[in-house]
Amino acid sequence: MPTLLITGANRGIGLELCKQYLDQGWEVHACCRKPEKASQLNKLANKNKQLHVHELEVTNEKQMDALKKTLKDKPIDILLNNAGVHALGASQFGKTDNKAWEEAVAVNLLAPMKMMEHFVNNVAISDKKIIASISSKMGSIEDNSSGGSYAYRATKAALNAVMVSAAHDLRHLGIIALILHPGWVRTDMGGPNGEISVKESARNLRKILDECTLEDSGKFFDIDGAIIPW
Ligand SMILES: NC(=O)c1ccc[n+]([C@@H]2O[C@H](COP(=O)([O-])OP(=O)(O)OC[C@H]3O[C@@H](n4cnc5c(N)ncnc54)[C@H](OP(=O)(O)O)[C@@H]3O)[C@@H](O)[C@H]2O)c1
Repeated sequence: MPTLLITGANRGIGLELCKQYLDQGWEVHACCRKPEKASQLNKLANKNKQLHVHELEVTNEKQMDALKKTLKDKPIDILLNNAGVHALGASQFGKTDNKAWEEAVAVNLLAPMKMMEHFVNNVAISDKKIIASISSKMGSIEDNSSGGSYAYRATKAALNAVMVSAAHDLRHLGIIALILHPGWVRTDMGGPNGEISVKESARNLRKILDECTLEDSGKFFDIDGAIIPW
């Protein structure tokens, strides 16, 4: 049975991806900051033995180390870096707060890097061998026609650079490193005016993950499978 390890699974796109992969018969290791308060994940776990809920504040390397010890040498078919913050406190010109910048860097950029470094061996011994990071079209410099969202745009653009390096460095292990835009999704982050539901986003993300090959490693995919310019 294939295995998914995903961050930020308490709500939004992460939670829906857990549901859909469980429906497909996968074993899911869902990370969230506060398992005792993750009511939706816990409800799912009560019904489904293939769901394992782990505590992981992604900026906490000790917790990441503990998770690595827990998972030992379990093959991980897909490592999905999903946790992210919009960093609204570092969004508007003239009003960017350092704390918000630091949080955005830690969550959107450093955490995916650290997750890859911690779990690369587990991915390398799996069948599918995929590491995917949920980035954003807002990280595309070419696509930036409206400005603002300084920390969010900058950390997602930097995440894209990290994933391209990983695609090169991990190719000899057969690992596919993907950068995925989930669409503009109706979640707490995307807001109620988002263009698509979490169901549609997760379904399309899964399609890309299902169909990708090593040829696709290092590519920046839109939710419809199109390539997004850097
Ligand atoms: N929604 C969109 O339109 C959209 C568009 C482009 C890209 N994205 C990207 O898609 C991903 C998921 O977004 P979403 O819309 O599902 O957002 P969301 O509903 O705001 O959920 C974000 C998730 O990330 C978790 N998280 C935040 N900081 C964390 C930390 N320090 N440690 C561990 N978990 C943390 C949250 O945990 P808590 O529940 O504990 O707060 C939550 O589970 C993000 O990377 C986002 O940038 C979203």
